[in-house]
Amino acid sequence: GTTLGASAAEKGRYYGAAIAAGKLGDSVYTGILNREFNSVTAENEMKWDATEPSQGRFSYANADRIVNHARSRGMLVRGHALLWHQQQPGWAQSLSGSALRNAAINHVTQVATYYRGKIHSWDVVNEAFADGGGGGRRDSNLQRTGNDWIEAAFRAARAADPGAKLCYNDYNTDGINAKSTGIYNMVRDFKARGVPIDCVGFQSHLTNSAPADYQANLQRFADLGVDVQITELDISGAGQATAYGAVTRACLAVARCTGITVWGIRDTDSWRTGQNPLLFDGNGGKKAAYTAVLNAL
Ligand code: XIL
Repeated sequence: GTTLGASAAEKGRYYGAAIAAGKLGDSVYTGILNREFNSVTAENEMKWDATEPSQGRFSYANADRIVNHARSRGMLVRGHALLWHQQQPGWAQSLSGSALRNAAINHVTQVATYYRGKIHSWDVVNEAFADGGGGGRRDSNLQRTGNDWIEAAFRAARAADPGAKLCYNDYNTDGINAKSTGIYNMVRDFKARGVPIDCVGFQSHLTNSAPADYQANLQRFADLGVDVQITELDISGAGQATAYGAVTRACLAVARCTGITVWGIRDTDSWRTGQNPLLFDGNGGKKAAYTAVLNAL
């Protein structure tokens, strides 16, 4: 193929980008999006603060702009993210205990129901594990409602949208380490007990290179019986093009790695300001990293 999306599709994968509703009027941005990508993720528009700014009042206009842009062009939509300790509305930040638990599960049910049938994969829970060597859960207001909050969220999401793949998504989980092993153990437990989980997302915010055991890590999760997806890829530093090629080849080498999403389109769109971690330069030109991905697909 001559584009990322078409080439990935030839291999039975998608190639996506995180996009912002407010940039869809930028013709350079949208031109690249429509030409190169066949999946999108809302960079911020489906987060809790955006979709439920006051309790019980839901706001979907910006997310709908992204969903409608994608679906009218045959692109997939990844839903991101139903529950996360960041970008919560102020009202949720001030709740705790059963009030927060009930609000969180209601949020999952309402948003997943609203988008039922339109979302390829949902990040049901984002970034719930702690960094460092412990391999345990991150302390958060959601975690303090009880260790079963993650499985409760997945069960609610399944009931609301039975056709969506339900993912757990996190960062610093791209190699085999204490954090990724903690998540691995949770997924294994969920599969053993029938908690509905279909996929694990690896954000892959990388610097210079991918971990040497990147493919092996994807494979060990796939061997648990879940799909794996690379969900927020961006790579800064000197090894950028080489590392993008390596990540692409690792996904293709794992049968259950179903797609890759880069976290933005042009370097100037990246949340990693000044690090230029994406595939297109600020003018929309293809970088060496782009060519490395296309050649690897
Ligand atoms: C980032 C967005 O790119 C920024 O625009 C926003 O200000 C903060 O969030 N992990 C995630 C994403 O799961 O939602 C984050 O996105 C990047 C890190």
